[in-house]
Amino acid sequence: MSERTLVLIKPDGVKRGLVGEVISRIERKGLTIAAMDLRNVERSVAEEHYAEHKEKPFFGELLEFITSGKVVALAVEGPRAIAAFRQLAGGTDPVEKATPGTLRGDFALETQFNLVHGSDAPESAERELKLWFPDL
Ligand code: CMP
Repeated sequence: MSERTLVLIKPDGVKRGLVGEVISRIERKGLTIAAMDLRNVERSVAEEHYAEHKEKPFFGELLEFITSGKVVALAVEGPRAIAAFRQLAGGTDPVEKATPGTLRGDFALETQFNLVHGSDAPESAERELKLWFPDL
């Protein structure tokens, strides 16, 4: 059964010219792109997107970072798309958790600048897709 997940290529990925690399890996895995948008992120959208991290000490930095430049938002589709993209992304900490061969393992060094975001569960995918692609 096909499902959809929200993927963000964060400002570090866009600035470093890694958009093509990320999209290429998504496509090579066999997932498809249902929607894609390069955009500046409004603070209100960032706050809602990361609402679950509101109480975390890094929340302020996280908002600053995600609104610091353009991001590419993607609705990615396919069988087990949520888990499949998280496998491609690798663990949140690019050194301690992400292994080589994953996007973060290959291209990132710091947890804050970890290149991509992917929804972590069906409920968050639904919520995040509504937020980023209300017309989808
Ligand atoms: P993401 O998958 O987008 O979900 C939450 C984000 O918070 C995460 O990726 C990281 O970019 C960021 N994050 C998580 N833990 C830390 C941390 N300890 N310090 C800074 N940023 C963090």
